[in-house]
Amino acid sequence: MGDNHNTHVKWVVGFLTMAAILGLIVKKVLVPEGFGTYGHYRAGAILDEFNRETRHMTNDSCLSCHPFIKEMHLEGIHRTVSCEFCHGPYGDHIRNGKKVATLPVKKGEEITALCLRCHNQIIRARPKESIKMITMPDHLENKKVQTDHNCDQCHNVHAPLMYVKQAREMMHMSSREDK
Ligand code: HEC
Ligand code: HEC
Ligand code: HEC
Ligand code: HEC
Repeated sequence: MGDNHNTHVKWVVGFLTMAAILGLIVKKVLVPEGFGTYGHYRAGAILDEFNRETRHMTNDSCLSCHPFIKEMHLEGIHRTVSCEFCHGPYGDHIRNGKKVATLPVKKGEEITALCLRCHNQIIRARPKESIKMITMPDHLENKKVQTDHNCDQCHNVHAPLMYVKQAREMMHMSSREDK
């Protein structure tokens, strides 16, 4: 009779042992390498993040390769505006420090549309003084030009007040502080 009880215990112990071994195998397979080395995360995750291709960068990252633009942009009133806003992400242009594709350069009407994304007073809720706003076509009618003029015909895109300032100087008009 006692034998029968023993068999049951052996059964349970055997089952638990099998379950424990299976559990260890599953753990080995599922837990990634390096987990727990530094804490409750995979050690390699830090390196993976570190090695990811950078998609967005600051204006500084563009300047060494574009010296002409650099001069204008840093001196002009657009110096705080992001190159990437107008041209697209660094990562589409440069990989491992080398040019892999060029970025789009807008022309004509596309330029006007781009400028108006930030300067259009049509969006009435915009505060007038944080970024100077214009109303179209009033801005062009005031200047006595055809309303199909594009913004870059009077404003240098990288230093928008540069031509305005030059024109004022040529006409001996008083110049403003900014450029
Ligand atoms: C490693 C050097 C390098 C860096 C960094 C770099 N560029 Fe360029 N870029 C080039 C080269 C080379 C060309 C192609 C030659 C040219 O047209 O001037 C080019 C072309 C361009 C063009 C197209 C010019 C055209 O006439 O079609 C734009 C726009 C541009 N880059 C913007 C940027 C911006 C914005 C950044 C920063 C986010 C940047 N570049 C960073 C080297 C660089
Ligand atoms: C407000 C939008 C705007 C910003 C900000 C801007 N660009 Fe441009 N960029 C343009 C437009 C529009 C053109 C095409 C018209 C032109 O060249 O006058 C252009 C042309 C260019 C060209 C090619 C033509 C050329 O003159 O060689 C390069 C290169 C360039 N930009 C680089 C830059 C870099 C680098 C920055 C940041 C330091 C920058 N841009 C910031 C709008 C912008
Ligand atoms: C991403 C938003 C943005 C875009 C796009 C943009 N601008 Fe600007 N612009 C600014 C900001 C911000 C300032 C003000 C900078 C300051 O006051 O320090 C400014 C300033 C100016 C000024 C000077 C206003 C003054 O104080 O008298 C002119 C002119 C101007 N931009 C024209 C343009 C033209 C033309 C374009 C298209 C090529 C353009 N902007 C595209 C953000 C933008
Ligand atoms: C015919 C030339 C001309 C064209 C085209 C032109 N502007 Fe201007 N813009 C000027 C002059 C000149 C000024 C200087 C301030 C003034 O006298 O009104 C100016 C001033 C500005 C200002 C500052 C406004 C302020 O309150 O001080 C902004 C912003 C501006 N322009 C944006 C644009 C945008 C965006 C476009 C394209 C839709 C554009 N401009 C097209 C000549 C022009």
